Amino acid sequence: MMERSDTAYLSIRGLRKIYPKTSAPAVNDVNLDVPQGDLVALLGPSGCGKTTTLRMVAGLLEPSAGQIIVNGRDVVSRPVNKRGMGMVFQSYALFPHMTVEENIAFGLQMQRASRPEIARRTAEALEMVQLGHLKGRRPAELSGGQQQRVALARALVIHPTLLLLDEPLSNLDAKLREAMRREIRGIQQQSATTTLFVTHDQDEALDMADRIAILNNGVIEQYGTPAVIYENPATRFVANFVGKANFLPVDEVSLGSRGEYAVRSEVFGRLTVAGTPGSAGTGALVVRPHRVTVADVNSEHAGSLPTARGRVIGSSYTGDVRGYDLRLENGQSMRADQLSTVGAGLAIGDEVLVSFEPGDAYLVSEG
Ligand SMILES: Nc1ncnc2c1ncn2[C@@H]1O[C@H](COP(=O)(O)OP(=O)(O)O)[C@@H](O)[C@H]1O
Ligand SMILES: [Mg+2]
Repeated sequence: MMERSDTAYLSIRGLRKIYPKTSAPAVNDVNLDVPQGDLVALLGPSGCGKTTTLRMVAGLLEPSAGQIIVNGRDVVSRPVNKRGMGMVFQSYALFPHMTVEENIAFGLQMQRASRPEIARRTAEALEMVQLGHLKGRRPAELSGGQQQRVALARALVIHPTLLLLDEPLSNLDAKLREAMRREIRGIQQQSATTTLFVTHDQDEALDMADRIAILNNGVIEQYGTPAVIYENPATRFVANFVGKANFLPVDEVSLGSRGEYAVRSEVFGRLTVAGTPGSAGTGALVVRPHRVTVADVNSEHAGSLPTARGRVIGSSYTGDVRGYDLRLENGQSMRADQLSTVGAGLAIGDEVLVSFEPGDAYLVSEG
């Protein structure tokens, strides 16, 4: 693996796109620094501006404002074929009349590489995606996963300055999608190719990315490592979009001397928790369902944790997890996901004690 540097290899500055005949910008003042060799996921719901951002980086779409700096140079005025970027789209856009090998070699031919160079690098790319034995086939004779790998090889064979992937896995079935995540990530790390990866799938982003940029309405709401995005969501939107979340309303929020917050919850009482800087007044505690403990009201119960009484109003079973929909004494809904054990678990109507560790709660402001 090549050495990684922490200075940004790709810097996006004040990037903006307003499509003709529209009022609201599709991408609004996006700033992003991507270190060399990293895979950064652009994650957000449909229509938030992911593809628009990626197409501007690629040179397929002209920004309304802003800079795209690759390796120290602003590339905004450079046409797509002079940017040397590799792209993979949701529809693989392979040439149907060409073989796998010809599809992969195409980019090198466009660059007028020498014959031996084309042969060597095509063979190298075929090996990287393990398709050497299928090099004579045409795209229609391949499975979806194999076509995906051809598209990836075709993007990587030119040794791209950046690899740009737009929802590359969304046409594959669930099992294959997970396998391809590992494969793409492995190849990306092995080749140390700086990569922007567009997805609306939070699991995919958490699983694959060094860092995630959460995009909402054309704006980056948070940029951080998967763990920071999940544990310290900057906004309610981020907490809701990445992972499952309970939101417990709190008031009387006050900042302590070490950055901690004292808060008051109607049902759980006074707590000290970590939270988004700048929170004040009122807000909500994010508590992930798998960190909520639920026990029969008659069972022995660790009394020191913040605890509320409630009732089971729904349940689900997915083999590894039992999920409980709870209603607390004040009417608040909560969800608890427990690793399943052998036995029946709790039943609908059971009265329960609901608790969590204050260290597992995180305050977001109600902005
Ligand atoms: N060619 C276009 N003309 C006008 N509006 C567009 C065009 N392409 C995309 N949009 C709008 O820009 C916003 C962002 O779109 P897009 O970048 O495709 O989102 P995403 O990839 O996150 O789903 C959406 O509101 C979309 O409707
Ligand atoms: Mg898109």
